Amino acid sequence: MSSLRTSIHGQWSSRWIFILAATGSAVGLGNIWRFPYLTGENGGGAFVLVYLFCVIIMGIPIMMAEILLGRRGRKSPIYTMEALAYEEGLNRNWRLLGWLGVLAGFIILSYYSVIAGWTIAFIFKTGMGDFLGTNAKQTTEIFGNLVSSPGILLFWHSIFMCITIRVVSQGVSGGLEKAVKFLMPALFVLLLVMVGYAMSTEKFIDGLRYLFIPDFNSLAEKNLFSDVFLPALGQAFFSLSIGMGAIMIYGSYLSKDSSITFNCFIIALADTSVAILAGIAIFPIVFTYGLEAAGGPGLIFVSLPIAFGQMPFGTFFGCLFFILLMFAAWTSSISLLEPAVTWLIEAKNMSRVKASYVAGFIAWLLGVFTVLSFNHWSFEFSFAGAIKENGLFDIFDILTSNIMLPLGGILVAFFTSWLMSRKSTVDELGLGDSLSYKIWRFVVRYIAPLGVIIIFLNAIGFFKIFSIGN
Ligand code: PHE
Repeated sequence: MSSLRTSIHGQWSSRWIFILAATGSAVGLGNIWRFPYLTGENGGGAFVLVYLFCVIIMGIPIMMAEILLGRRGRKSPIYTMEALAYEEGLNRNWRLLGWLGVLAGFIILSYYSVIAGWTIAFIFKTGMGDFLGTNAKQTTEIFGNLVSSPGILLFWHSIFMCITIRVVSQGVSGGLEKAVKFLMPALFVLLLVMVGYAMSTEKFIDGLRYLFIPDFNSLAEKNLFSDVFLPALGQAFFSLSIGMGAIMIYGSYLSKDSSITFNCFIIALADTSVAILAGIAIFPIVFTYGLEAAGGPGLIFVSLPIAFGQMPFGTFFGCLFFILLMFAAWTSSISLLEPAVTWLIEAKNMSRVKASYVAGFIAWLLGVFTVLSFNHWSFEFSFAGAIKENGLFDIFDILTSNIMLPLGGILVAFFTSWLMSRKSTVDELGLGDSLSYKIWRFVVRYIAPLGVIIIFLNAIGFFKIFSIGN
């Protein structure tokens, strides 16, 4: 039956390769760049707590649902949704869910590549000893100079997009395997080194307290839903790579005999540990050197270099850290491009190479807006009460993480648990009719969609009664 199909785009050679690839997709800038700066902007410990809650209650079950769909459909997200809808006797317009994902992937990739470009620029800056003995003011200045130079940002953005296109054009499993097998563990170890450094700083305990003890007083000024819940939910989806078809397409290369449940737990555990370690490494430095926790997207680029400038062998560790971060970003960007590429191959009969260049070029072009949003085109605007300063970058970011991914996730949950026959999901998850299956189905049916809807509607001010503060 359908579950015995294999994808025309290939299949992972083993379950571990899938776990590695999916972890490679999940672990990236989202954990090390985005998680700490959102934590700093949105209330520290309370944000972290809600984030963990979102990962466990909504993230993991929806990830299982998305992989399940991918493995059953075995095509690009658009055709997978169409085929599954047909199989279940539903309207074929469910393919629009695939489209939503492909579009979100493009937008995310467009700015992701620009930030990854900052990482490459920092490999050279740390490597050349630019940060030796610098203080917070100087690193802030170095970072400021970088983002105010559109030419340099464009250059690194282009390089990063080229290397992404290159891997995707050769098929995802090739180089990816090596990258994830060696580089991810290396990144993990290096993060531990950074945590070690953070422990030696004066404000280590303050950093831990900030991360793990929710300070509800600091939230008095904030709207709990739009300032804490929605960004945390968006971050959970972003970090786990769910809601846009990336993990769905990886699921489509997964063999039938691999346990989706087990795989998801491992991926989520690895992803969450990296984010938390990044937080532990960064906040003590932020506090010790008097940086602003709510400093925005530049947070890791102004805090970590101080540490590299002070610690023994800092130039070496700094350079290595940014190299590994670049690889982590690379293994994620591949999965952002893959859904669009597989669709171009299926629908337009393009070769993989051509499809990769076409899709990559469009994302690159869109990225130019992000490049400019940090300098010539930066403007302020307010979203759900919060002031944002980086114009189009912030708009792309909010639109995708806080709106498109949760929407994609909720539709995936709805489709798998309400519309697909019970038999199809039992068949695919391989848990039988066990208690684990029942828990999963209950969560995906009721809890996850309800959670997403409540957070979402509250954040956009739908139920005024629930909001606190302003
Ligand atoms: N999860 C990746 C990260 O944390 C980003 C990503 C989002 C990748 C969505 C694929 C899909 O960096």
